[in-house]
Amino acid sequence: MMVYLNGNLIDEKTAHIGFDDRGFLFADGVYEVIHIYSRKFFEWDRHMARLQRSMAGINLSEVDMHALSKGAEALLEDFDGEEGILYLEITRGVHPRSHAFPPPEVRPTILMWVRSHQPFSTDAITQGVSVITVADDRWAKVWIKTIGLLPNVLAKEKAHKMGVYDAVFVRDGMVMEATSANIFIVRRGILRTAPVTNYILPGITREVALEIAKEQGIAIALEPFSVEDMYSAEEIFLTGTTTEILPVTQVDGRTVGKKAGAVTLLLLDALRAKAYAVS
Ligand SMILES: Cc1ncc(COP(=O)(O)O)c(C=O)c1O
Repeated sequence: MMVYLNGNLIDEKTAHIGFDDRGFLFADGVYEVIHIYSRKFFEWDRHMARLQRSMAGINLSEVDMHALSKGAEALLEDFDGEEGILYLEITRGVHPRSHAFPPPEVRPTILMWVRSHQPFSTDAITQGVSVITVADDRWAKVWIKTIGLLPNVLAKEKAHKMGVYDAVFVRDGMVMEATSANIFIVRRGILRTAPVTNYILPGITREVALEIAKEQGIAIALEPFSVEDMYSAEEIFLTGTTTEILPVTQVDGRTVGKKAGAVTLLLLDALRAKAYAVS
């Protein structure tokens, strides 16, 4: 497999990153994951806009966005599948360990690769998945898509140890998001998801789902909702680049909502129609 590293397309076996890379030492970097449908990047511009916001959020110097998109196109050409994901990571570069930023001549490390991706099976979608709620102990800049994902990793592992699919972060009784997806509920016929604040990642799939819901005339409330609201929801689903739209049917051991409810399925169908149509 070929990977893109610092401007070059090279064989993954020869791709090495220095042990003084600040991504390795400090999780000092940001990333993006982009879905490839029918060999086309889905919502490329929105991902690039979020990447630039994330870079600004950690004062990472500008990178050549044109070169980045050329590199991504080259990776796509090398990719022999139809559906996959592009992973893109930018760190503050390689410099002997010191908390302070390195001097400006130290250039960011830029890594990208494309791998095939298996969408959820129809069975998983129709059955739905189970989640647990966990206290949101992340920092106050969750809106930055940083590679510092330890709280997410620990929460996901806790979920897996309990035999469930994912964990949902709860802050002051309010539901924020899952470990790598946003979360929506339909309650009393109204579609709800946490508003964009510094405490959630503004998901691209979340945004697309909301646009589709609006087009379809579904009532929407972008207001925080509580764990109790979730327990008494008619439908619950996750949204994310790899997750797409995935129904949740169990929360903290209680069966909640319908198996793949009408709104959930409508949004999933419309998202896929849009993704393959754009492609
Ligand atoms: C914490 C978190 N929330 C939400 C999302 C969903 O964002 P997107 O739809 O842009 O993939 C992700 C995606 O990785 C995430 O890591």
